Amino acid sequence: MTRWIGTSWKMNKTLAEARAYARGLDEALSSRPELTDGVQPFIIPPHTALAAVASELSSDSPGVGSAPGVHLGAQNAHWEDSGAWTGEVSVPQVKDAGAVLLEIGHSERREHFAETVETTRRKVEAALRHELIPLLCIGESAQIRQQGGTADFLLDQARGALQGLTEEQLSRVLIAYEPIWAIGAQGRPAEVDELLEPFDVLHEEYGGRVEALLYGGSVTPENAAQLLGIPGVQGLFIGRAAWSLQGYLELLQLAARPSAA
Ligand code: PGA
Repeated sequence: MTRWIGTSWKMNKTLAEARAYARGLDEALSSRPELTDGVQPFIIPPHTALAAVASELSSDSPGVGSAPGVHLGAQNAHWEDSGAWTGEVSVPQVKDAGAVLLEIGHSERREHFAETVETTRRKVEAALRHELIPLLCIGESAQIRQQGGTADFLLDQARGALQGLTEEQLSRVLIAYEPIWAIGAQGRPAEVDELLEPFDVLHEEYGGRVEALLYGGSVTPENAAQLLGIPGVQGLFIGRAAWSLQGYLELLQLAARPSAA
């Protein structure tokens, strides 16, 4: 089983910072291939840095990056291929800049930028149409959890975004479960017990059908091994703890086959 271990930089990093991180990553993975033994790394810079990161990672690997196939992703893209959509970028554009993966439906986009189940559905479809890997983020608020509605809410978000896909298309999708209350500086790290039921439900519905189910929300080198031990968890989607290259490398090492330890 491949573990998907990746990070979105959200709205962080200048071009120089992005290049330095990518160059360092390329060097580290080339000199320490054991870090990606059994692991598929992916990084999701802001749009402004996509092409620069792609060129730092570029050699001759599949996807982007030599460094044992680091997948490059975009944090968002419009569902239309082109047109009068001021301020947006399209899937063909992020693909042109080097992305092979598209993050869709992060809770920050749902909360602040009016992302809905319907727009996530359109974006999943657009990503697949252009042969990008959709990384669909789903997750409940603290309120929904308190009311006992987590399982239904997650299934509604996932089913809504993935409706109409063939099994072959579904097999290319990544789903990241990211409870809103566990994300970011205002979040509190989830206890393992709180994640068992959601992963049980998601595994029941999507296990073996999607590429992988990931967990995200306050992941750190301290809790990563425990989180990866939860049944159904096949990867981690990381924010703050992987914004430094050192932090990301530490997390890769924790996820790689024991020979890397
Ligand atoms: P965090 O972010 O690791 O900083 O909590 C996770 C995410 O938003 O995906």
